[in-house]
Amino acid sequence: MNGRAAFAGPPVLFVGVKAMPNTVLVGAQWGDEGKGKIIDVLTQQADVIVRYQGGSNAGHTVIVGDKKYVLHLIPSGILHEDKLCVIGNGVVLEPFDLLRELNELHEKGIETKGRLLISDRAHLVMRWHRALDQADEARRSAGKKIGTTGRGIGPTYGAKVGRTGMRAGDVLKADFLDRVVEQVEAANATLASWGAELLDVAEITGLYRELPDKIAPYVADTVKVIHEADRAGKSILLEGAQGTMLDIDFGTYPFVTSSSSTAGGACTGSGLPPRRIDRVVGVLKCYTTRVGAGPFPTELDDDVGEMLRRRGGEYGATTGRSRRCGWFDAVVARYAAQVNGFDFWAMTKLDVLDELPVVRICVAYERDDGFRYETFPSDLDELARCKPVYEEMPGWQTSTSEVTRYEDLPLKARAYVERLSSLTGVRIGILSVGPARESTMRLGL
Ligand code: IMP
Repeated sequence: MNGRAAFAGPPVLFVGVKAMPNTVLVGAQWGDEGKGKIIDVLTQQADVIVRYQGGSNAGHTVIVGDKKYVLHLIPSGILHEDKLCVIGNGVVLEPFDLLRELNELHEKGIETKGRLLISDRAHLVMRWHRALDQADEARRSAGKKIGTTGRGIGPTYGAKVGRTGMRAGDVLKADFLDRVVEQVEAANATLASWGAELLDVAEITGLYRELPDKIAPYVADTVKVIHEADRAGKSILLEGAQGTMLDIDFGTYPFVTSSSSTAGGACTGSGLPPRRIDRVVGVLKCYTTRVGAGPFPTELDDDVGEMLRRRGGEYGATTGRSRRCGWFDAVVARYAAQVNGFDFWAMTKLDVLDELPVVRICVAYERDDGFRYETFPSDLDELARCKPVYEEMPGWQTSTSEVTRYEDLPLKARAYVERLSSLTGVRIGILSVGPARESTMRLGL
């Protein structure tokens, strides 16, 4: 099709060992586990980096030299010259957010043409999806609000599943603007029924008039590209956004995002088959945070919670909201390990706990009748009947932020992370003690 990114050439069948096995990276908690930094570390060995779900609700800040980049949609692999970045079919893409990110990269001298590909099957977040998301949150009563990022994520996935969505490949079709008009009118009917402000059809249509020329050069059939790269022996890194407990199926429904943020989503969101995935890495913060509404059994509403927020810089990269903070929850992590089949943990932010005299770990939930949950209950009413069962360990009260070798960590800090590993049955592959690349210990990953 005219105007699309073209990828030609016969597929090569690779027989050999890849520089890095094809790897999926998934958040094990409620998002914000520090995936951005781990992705940056693993990207160095990868050839192709694929984002497979979510949209501009995600966000990470990457600092390279004296330049700061805030990326919501484009994989941070774009900052490495020789990498190919793919926005997979499972992502929902807000085109104006994308153009903003592209401009920012171009202004900083980073070339994106030919290095960034957008799946023609990825659904577009349109202005009316965003308006519907915000109006829906506004009309919900207290206790029913999800606390969404307001980025239009839910309504876009809703339209996808309802088979009325618009895909990136659609911008090149002759009826694109007619469909825009049709859909703004349909959204206006819903907005009117909610008593919300209506959208101006002509204004919205005008916005999308120039879009095809701007995004078409990036749009491609990325399933083909990913398969060819895999067959040619390239290493593929699939990066998940949000986290297991925000997954539409496995999270704390309805207080979840609308996509499959677990490992299974990596296949449906990219087109890479399950048997071509070699390993799954879970990113796990050494304590727990959550942003937005919904249950959080180990939440701390005290000085320790405040200390975690302050030392951990726990403020959202997308909305700036302050994150709720709490003790490490092994029930959540164990459940995430079951659902995702993690081969390794990439544990992050151990240094945030450095000051504490005592650290607590939630090892199980106990229901009001004494029944113990070792993994997360599926029903939130059940969860409401539960209390966390804590185990205590002595804190190390020594700074770990300069440590670069696992053997040099204080013994009490090692005992803590090893306890997290044994409680969840997953070995530690990476341990991070600070935002910089150097503050990363690699233990067999
Ligand atoms: P939505 O994804 O904007 O629909 O928001 C649904 C829920 O997921 C809300 O509680 C958000 O705060 C949460 N959420 C969405 N994206 C992220 C993320 O990247 N990190 C942490 N929480 C997120």
